[in-house]
Parts: sequence; structure tokens; C-alpha cells
Amino acid sequence: MSQPTVEVLRIVEEVRTFAEGTRASGQRLALVPTMGFLHEGHLTLMREGRRLADVVAASIFVNPTQFGPKEDLARYPRDLEGDLQKCASAGVKAVFVPDNETLYPKGYQTYVEVTEASLGLDGERRPGHFRGVATVVTKLFALFRPHVALFGEKDFQQLRVIEALARDLDLGVSVVGVPTVREADGLAMSSRNSYLSADERIRALALSKGLFAARDACAKGMRDAAELLALLRAELAKGDVREDYVALVDAKTLVPLGRVEPSQPARLMVAGFVGNTRLIDNIGL
Ligand code: PAJ
Repeated sequence: MSQPTVEVLRIVEEVRTFAEGTRASGQRLALVPTMGFLHEGHLTLMREGRRLADVVAASIFVNPTQFGPKEDLARYPRDLEGDLQKCASAGVKAVFVPDNETLYPKGYQTYVEVTEASLGLDGERRPGHFRGVATVVTKLFALFRPHVALFGEKDFQQLRVIEALARDLDLGVSVVGVPTVREADGLAMSSRNSYLSADERIRALALSKGLFAARDACAKGMRDAAELLALLRAELAKGDVREDYVALVDAKTLVPLGRVEPSQPARLMVAGFVGNTRLIDNIGL
């Protein structure tokens, strides 16, 4: 049997032709934006796209506008050949792989800012990050005009930012969140896990362990934010993970909460450094 293949789109005209052709034939189009170095989390979004639409497209682009000057843009992991094979096996029909000049040509000057959802958490720790994310995702939505777009709950604040921009700008795309895919031991899958040494890989478990400990305590009646966050912090300390932030927030608005109330979905959020590698994770309470 021959291997499945994907169409590789490099320039905006190719994307328009592909997207218009899909729409014109009456098929529903799903889009999965990524930065590549794909893992099972990304592939789950693609398979979910197949369930929700007739045709799935993906993008692979390490978006420079969402990286801060001291962040890992230059060393972000890449494996285009492997990624294209994975996309094909997940049933993706076309993958957009632009270069920087294609999305940000000389004279580029337009940015999208989502005000409230970008406040606090990663928005505060990574100034400009969500402006870069919102800008590139808006451009991808404008090019593909997908019926549905899939994003992981792993990046929970990002999901809320993108929901807001799709709604506020009347983009007519339905934004779907997909639960976090984890390694067997609990670590949330991330392209950045490839930075971890063997020792750091073990210590990185502190994030998910801390979240699970707090979730279990909450299920048994612990409702106070300070107590839940203390449980999470204790696990971070055991793993020698340097806290960037921990927070209990309203799952919809991301506004900090003092307590978990049964009627109000809450989310426990964490970011921390394992050595030089910054990881994030979150869980619903
Ligand atoms: P990237 O980190 O490559 O992630 C692409 C998509 O995969 C995002 O929606 C992310 O939330 C999702 N994802 C990553 N790890 C996951 C996991 N373990 N389980 C489920 N989903 C997971 O997020 C970005 O790229 C960029 O910011 C992007 C949206 C592409 C804009 O540049």
C-alpha cells in the first residue's frame, strides 16, 4: 500500500486556491495551526478535525512575533520531513509551511490585540506573546477561512484568546478546544519537552503531579485557593522546579479566584522552569 501524502502549500496564493476549492465543493474545512515538531497532542487535534469536518489542513510555522527577545525562537525544535509524514498519517490533506517573509513581508505593520484574555498568567510573564499569537492566527483564519479550528487546552489562555478574537472579529470560525494529551506518567506533551535532560524529564513531572494532587484534594473538599496552590507549590519544590506562576482562575474569564465554588468552573494554572526550560500545564477543578 502506498504511504498517504500531504499537499505542501508554501505561498498565500496556494492556500487561497486550496481553501476556495474546498469551500466551493461544499466541504467543511478544519484548520490546525502548529509550530511543528509534532507529537501526539497535535495529532489528536488533527484527528478531531477529521471528525468535525470533511477536510483538515494544518500549518507549521515557528511564529517569530510571539517569541520574546530572550526566548527560544532560534533553537525551537524542527523536523519538517517527520512532521509531514505525521500529518499525512493523521489524515491531513494540506500543510501550509510559510517562511517569515511570506507572513511578514517588508512593511508589515498590522497586529491583533485581545485585551482581557491576554491579561495575567502567560500574558504577563511573556509580554507581547499573545499579540503575536493573535496576529498569526488571525492571518491563518483570513487565508484558510476554515469552518472550524482546533486548539489544545494545554495552552489554556491561548485557547481563550483565540476564542475571543474569532468572536470579536466575526471571523465565522468555530474554535474548538481539545483536552491535553499526556505522556503515560502524566507529563503534558510539548515540543519543548525535547529540551529536557534525563534528570530534568523526571523533575518536570512535578507540574502534573502538583495539579493532580490539588485536583484530588479539591474533589475531597479542599476549596481554598491558597491551600490548593500550596499543594501545587510543594510538588514544584520537590522537583526543584522554579515557579514562574501558579494561579487558580475562573475557567471562562481567567480572573483569579479565592475559592473553588461548585457552580463556577475553575482552572488551576502553572508555569515553571525546569533548568532553563519553561513548561506550562493546567487542569480543570
Ligand atoms: P504549538 O505549541 O505547536 O501547538 C499547536 C497546537 O497544539 C495548540 O493548539 C496547542 O495547544 C496544541 N497542543 C500542544 N500540546 C498539546 C497537548 N499535549 N495536548 C493537546 N494539545 C496540545 O500553540 C502554538 O503552537 C502556537 O502558539 C500557534 C497557535 C500555532 C500560533 O503560532
